[in-house]
Amino acid sequence: MRDPRFALEPLGKQHHRAAFSCGVAALDRYLQEQAGQEMRRHVAVVYVLVELSTAAIAGFYTLSATGIDVGALPEDFTRRLPRYPRLPAALIGRLAVDRGFRGQGIGKGLLLDALARSYHLSRRIGALAVVVDAKDDAARRFYEHFGFRRLADDANRLFLEMATVAGLDLPEPS
Ligand SMILES: CC(C)(COP(=O)(O)OP(=O)(O)OC[C@H]1O[C@@H](n2cnc3c(N)ncnc32)[C@H](O)[C@@H]1OP(=O)(O)O)[C@@H](O)C(=O)NCCC(=O)NCCS
Repeated sequence: MRDPRFALEPLGKQHHRAAFSCGVAALDRYLQEQAGQEMRRHVAVVYVLVELSTAAIAGFYTLSATGIDVGALPEDFTRRLPRYPRLPAALIGRLAVDRGFRGQGIGKGLLLDALARSYHLSRRIGALAVVVDAKDDAARRFYEHFGFRRLADDANRLFLEMATVAGLDLPEPS
């Protein structure tokens, strides 16, 4: 994200998590109680978007490595791939925007940052798609709005081909 009002940083002890409220209790709880532990255990990297004038967390997303069962991908995609049972991908496990910051393009900015980061990492460690976990129908529609397609084995898991992300020509995040 290139908005000078905000800084995107890996989650640390200095961040004020208690006030974060996105309207989905499980996501708030995740940030407040679980995210730090997942960072320490290398399960996920949590990126928080901080409003510089208030130090409030406007949003966050998580990034991890994952695998996709080849049978969950559509034929038009797997036709061009080697016949491995599982294929490597980047996972945006969670993404949320605080209610006070909704409708200003922040969700889109976080998603594009996560896609850019995934793409640039995929130049160093293979990942042929970006996968997202949508918590409910509204979240699924948000991702479908950006071209994500559903995986066959889980209605709330969606993917976007890395080749499509590459075509967006997104700058490398710092
Ligand atoms: C979904 C969420 C991240 C959107 O954040 P936001 O900052 O309000 O969204 P933005 O302002 O960046 O919207 C970007 C675009 O997505 C669209 N959009 C936003 N929410 C949408 C939804 N639920 N369904 C379809 N499109 C949606 C906007 O209309 C906008 O479209 P445009 O670029 O064509 O104008 C936010 O509502 C949220 O945190 N929800 C609760 C947690 C959640 O569901 N997380 C996702 C799954 S874990």
